[in-house]
Amino acid sequence: MGYIEIRGLHKAFSVRGQPLPVLQGVDLDIEEGEIFGIIGYSGAGKSTLARCINRLEEADKGEILVGGINIRALNKSELLRERRNIGMIFQQFNLFEAQTVYENIAYPLKISGVSRSEIRGRMMEAAKVVGLSDKLYAYPGGLSGGQKQRVGIARAIVGRPSVLLSDEATSALDPKTTLSILELLKEINAKTGITILMITHELDVIKYSCSRMAVLENGVIIESGDTSEVFGNPKSKTGELFFKVYDEFRSDKEYTGGDGI
Ligand SMILES: Nc1ncnc2c1ncn2[C@@H]1O[C@H](COP(=O)(O)OP(=O)(O)O)[C@@H](O)[C@H]1O
Ligand SMILES: [Mg+2]
Repeated sequence: MGYIEIRGLHKAFSVRGQPLPVLQGVDLDIEEGEIFGIIGYSGAGKSTLARCINRLEEADKGEILVGGINIRALNKSELLRERRNIGMIFQQFNLFEAQTVYENIAYPLKISGVSRSEIRGRMMEAAKVVGLSDKLYAYPGGLSGGQKQRVGIARAIVGRPSVLLSDEATSALDPKTTLSILELLKEINAKTGITILMITHELDVIKYSCSRMAVLENGVIIESGDTSEVFGNPKSKTGELFFKVYDEFRSDKEYTGGDGI
């Protein structure tokens, strides 16, 4: 039993008339309030999995429960309501370039019919959490990558969701900025108890942030457990390869005095 429960999730795409199976029976339990990491190579199906949880993508088969709610059974209006409970952040930030920070953060509230005065208050609160109170009237084009992702985070949490899906949220950022964004996510998690699903291809991100993790390979969760356990004794091919490259990379970095996380 978890706060997010996924059972036997299948998803295939059709590519030039041929089925491309991407998720082939994913099972996952994520506890309420934890930061859970999913790692896998590029193309493993991580983004597809995240997008099936909020139904930006429709799964073919299987079950997704979030806080006891059967996500795949929701009708359109129920889904729109439930989506407010599931925030999402992306590698490319997905901000509206022609809108101010204020408008970007306020967007989810605006489309869900929240009153103007309440929007303002909650937007200010979210902007404060991410440290952008002094940038409300700036446009994304004038912000650094880290600031853009802070806007993304504020927009994702402004509706006070209980779940945050983070899909490679730090993959476009330098190590120092990555660290500050991970700090911020940890802080938000500790303060609000929000459950975070952190999807990444970067081991450092998982190691730094996640108490538990899973490895996605060939469309299934091939191993999962406490992060320290999986790090100490990876059983899967992905795990082993990842950690081997990681070790070499780390020792390289240490040798040259690089500034890894
Ligand atoms: N809309 C789509 N149509 C066809 N194929 C897709 C689509 N979205 C993803 N894929 C394919 O599904 C596989 C998994 O993609 P994705 O979930 O983005 O992986 P990851 O996030 O782990 O890199 C890839 O082979 C990708 O090309
Ligand atoms: Mg992806």
